[in-house]
Amino acid sequence: MSTNIPIIEARNVSKEFAGIAALQEVSLKVSAGEVLCLLGDNGAGKSTLIKILSGVHAPSSGEILLDGKPAAFREPRDARNAGIATVHQYGGTVPLMSISRNFFLGAEIVKGRWPLRRLDLQTMNRIALEQIQSLGVRRVTDSSRPVGTLSGGQRQALAICRATYFGARLLILDEPTSALGVREATTVLKLVAEVRSRGIGVILITHNAHHAMSIGDHFVVLGHGKVVASFSRGEKSAAEVVGLMAGGVELQALELELEQFKPKAVS
Ligand SMILES: Nc1ncnc2c1ncn2[C@@H]1O[C@H](COP(=O)(O)OP(=O)(O)O)[C@@H](O)[C@H]1O
Ligand SMILES: [Mg+2]
Repeated sequence: MSTNIPIIEARNVSKEFAGIAALQEVSLKVSAGEVLCLLGDNGAGKSTLIKILSGVHAPSSGEILLDGKPAAFREPRDARNAGIATVHQYGGTVPLMSISRNFFLGAEIVKGRWPLRRLDLQTMNRIALEQIQSLGVRRVTDSSRPVGTLSGGQRQALAICRATYFGARLLILDEPTSALGVREATTVLKLVAEVRSRGIGVILITHNAHHAMSIGDHFVVLGHGKVVASFSRGEKSAAEVVGLMAGGVELQALELELEQFKPKAVS
């Protein structure tokens, strides 16, 4: 039976850097099997917030609850041990290493006894390939190939598979689709849906309101360190969300200004 206690919750979290308020009284929560999209313009505070959730920064005030209990992450390892996995924009992979070595980086499988202990490449290759394919990425057929031969979307997929294999309960994805083309972005969004169906909670950070609307269950829009809007699927249109993100008024002013640069119609 699943409960309604969120995996992670931020309550009135504020963060100051040398007197500058990067976050002010931000609250959000994510439960198992839910995708929360975190939206906002550059400098809105998205990365600062996920750094707090993943143990990189401590909040200046406010609290983080893990399964309903106060969590004090002193370092990223504490958050990882609690099942919080963060995947950065380019998947954090090492291009020259094989797919399977990247998959098992820091958790390599070995065989034999000292002094003949060595990496069990065969087993690592097999498991990595099984895992990647089980999440629906079937184009990858050889995990001994270097990661550098993978596309951007496949690298994201690798990082996501790795996190779930090693027991992530909450996956934080920082702009996973921003450097990708349409087809690749779709692959990654499908993977997020698959991960959600396995009961993992996801925080998806994105600039793209359409990507967010296609997958999100809940949405939090940050602007200048504050929550500008917080709503659930179906409560707002993509156009409204775009307006919230860019600061609708500013966007309208810009459009008017650009009007004068429009090519003149030939009469
Ligand atoms: N380590 C830091 N030291 C000082 N200021 C920071 C630091 N990290 C972020 N900031 C500031 O906090 C604000 C929010 O930044 P950030 O969280 O990176 O936004 P986003 O990820 O939404 O683009 C910005 O004004 C940024 O300059
Ligand atoms: Mg950022």
